[in-house]
Amino acid sequence: MQVFHTESKIIITCNKRLSPYLQQEVEALGYEPTRVFNTGVELQGTVTDTIPLNLNLRCGSQVLYLLKAFIANDPAELYNELVTIEWEKLIDFAGYFSVTSNVNNEHILTPLFANVKVKDAIVDRIKSIKGIRPNSGPEVNKTVVHLYWQDNRAEIFLDTSGETLAKHSYRKIPGKAPMLEALATSTIMATNWDRKSTFINPMCGSGTLAIEAALLATDKYPGLFRMNYGFMHLSGYDETVFFAERRALKDKAKKETSFKIIATDISADAVDVARKNAKTAGVEHLIDFAVCDFEETDVPAEPGIVMFNPEYGERLGVHTKLEMTYKRVGDFLKKKCLGYRGYVFTGNPDLAKKIGLRAARKIEFYNGKLDCRLFEYELYQGSKREPKPEN
Ligand SMILES: C[S@@+](CC[C@H](N)C(=O)[O-])C[C@H]1O[C@@H](n2cnc3c(N)ncnc32)[C@H](O)[C@@H]1O
Repeated sequence: MQVFHTESKIIITCNKRLSPYLQQEVEALGYEPTRVFNTGVELQGTVTDTIPLNLNLRCGSQVLYLLKAFIANDPAELYNELVTIEWEKLIDFAGYFSVTSNVNNEHILTPLFANVKVKDAIVDRIKSIKGIRPNSGPEVNKTVVHLYWQDNRAEIFLDTSGETLAKHSYRKIPGKAPMLEALATSTIMATNWDRKSTFINPMCGSGTLAIEAALLATDKYPGLFRMNYGFMHLSGYDETVFFAERRALKDKAKKETSFKIIATDISADAVDVARKNAKTAGVEHLIDFAVCDFEETDVPAEPGIVMFNPEYGERLGVHTKLEMTYKRVGDFLKKKCLGYRGYVFTGNPDLAKKIGLRAARKIEFYNGKLDCRLFEYELYQGSKREPKPEN
């Protein structure tokens, strides 16, 4: 099976509500999506096409290549279809593979059962032909096979990513309540920031927003930080394509920016973590870090974007204190950030009201399972205040 040279359906998955940003990235790479849905983008391509996708995408999670779509009413039918696939031409018979799944079928009470059925079909097939079987287990750092099974419609994919792409490999120390890197990038993309004007991130925590902003501005892509992907473990893999793509990423990356990125936090520990993460990402020199209350953050005269991700009571903090904090954030934006566009990412709409400014846009996101918004504020002289609720 020449998967590296045979076109098939490719599904790039992403966290809920990130697909508009993923679509932009896919199109910028020159691919034409055939479908965009809430948790992904679909296109046509070969496993070779998945190499640049895996190395370049910031907003995606997994790049899946369709091997076969079929009807399966129950586990026995699933097995019978899967055992006909030439797994011996895809998976190293002395190697290791794992199975992941997204299943909604009346016969399957736990996804683990479906995974075992897939594993059995692969192992039985390879053993009957090669006389030896590959190992399998939960680690997703070698060959990964993904089953999508809704009612009686089944699709079996090669997961060419393996470990998720949504983490960008530079964050060695997570900090408290960090944003997922793919989410952080998507929120920055949602601001339409020009990538050449000031970017301020008070309350930076582990630094994800500031670091992602620096990576976007310098054209540094996640593939620069990662050397292992699912596609590398498939039979027929030719490493020259991967190394050529990596070389192109290195050539494209800029070293400097002509504007400031500022990141501050009241916690010295958080700033220390943010600095270390920025160093791993190779952008420490582009970010001015400081330990201070957000109100003391330096706001350069040349305007740009100021972006907050305050605590919102779901995982950290206490509400009454947070109400004051949100009010102070609003005051800071109104008084100190004139000419900027202000953004607050939060999962708590009641707290957001305390900001006291009328949002020009409320952009929908999820943080994990929590419904969140990115509030946008135009901070020009005489910014509109949120009208006082009528008594
Ligand atoms: C939700 S976390 C930010 C997480 C961050 N986006 C990340 O990806 O790691 C909120 C941060 O606000 C900081 N913080 C809370 N009150 C602050 C204040 N008054 N001034 C500055 N930072 C504050 C906390 O120390 C915490 O690091």
